[in-house]
Amino acid sequence: MKTSEISEEKRQPILSIRGGSKRFGGIQALDNINLDIYDNEILALLGDNGAGKSTLIKAISGAHTLDAGDIYFGGKQVQITKPEDAHNLGIKTVYQDLALFGILNVTVNLFAGSEYTRWGFLQKKKMDKEAQAVLSKLKTTIKSLKQEVRSLSGGQQHSVAIGRGVFIGHDPKLIIMDEPTAGLGVKQSREVLRLLKELGQNYAIIFITHNLEYAFEVAQKAVVLCSGRIVGKLDMTEASHSQIVSLMMGVEQAA
Ligand SMILES: Nc1ncnc2c1ncn2[C@@H]1O[C@H](COP(=O)(O)OP(=O)(O)OP(=O)(O)O)[C@@H](O)[C@H]1O
Ligand SMILES: [Mg+2]
Repeated sequence: MKTSEISEEKRQPILSIRGGSKRFGGIQALDNINLDIYDNEILALLGDNGAGKSTLIKAISGAHTLDAGDIYFGGKQVQITKPEDAHNLGIKTVYQDLALFGILNVTVNLFAGSEYTRWGFLQKKKMDKEAQAVLSKLKTTIKSLKQEVRSLSGGQQHSVAIGRGVFIGHDPKLIIMDEPTAGLGVKQSREVLRLLKELGQNYAIIFITHNLEYAFEVAQKAVVLCSGRIVGKLDMTEASHSQIVSLMMGVEQAA
């Protein structure tokens, strides 16, 4: 075993996958994936285009079903066959496409599709109160819930999408972020990274990124995928940039 490879841990993982495989026609998108995710920890999921990162998180979040393999959550085997299954477990995914409604305000966007109603009426005060609580959890720079989302900065818009994906509905246990800094400038990416670090203190997080600097900055561990297989499990305090690139390119295989 390489020194950089993660040793077996004593504590119980929040989520484990054993023997996870998924095929699309002739493409083996995931091949015998064994993975453990722990609480209060950010795991970077790395790999070149087409490596299988999105397929893996879609299998965890219920957008895809594995062809083979088992998923355990909190030590118990679970079936995740649709997004609600994941959501009910507290597995919250924020996809790259933020799907916000630009001309609508922050509160409306936070609760889109999950509005509180009573006797058929929207409970606006209740939603505003909770929206305020979500914004303070996120420590965002957003000044007003009444602001149209299209007038927010890119980083602030990401905060709204993260707030909606993570804090509305069931309490989060595992947060998955697929390329949360893609398309953002440096300043706005910093805002998202700050938020990630903050959330990483309280939750298990899977962070997909193509930006290795960001992975080194926020993640404690990394898993590298190449052609649907895990080719490296690394401790980020020991790993090097070049080692990860070699693994991503399929040059170096972890033992
Ligand atoms: N719905 C699908 N139908 C057919 N093939 C698919 C489907 N989804 C993914 N694939 C294939 O599975 C492989 C893994 O794709 P995936 O989207 O998981 O890669 P990725 O690591 O997320 O890449 P990227 O960094 O470009 O987002 C690719 O070869 C892709 O073409
Ligand atoms: Mg992807």
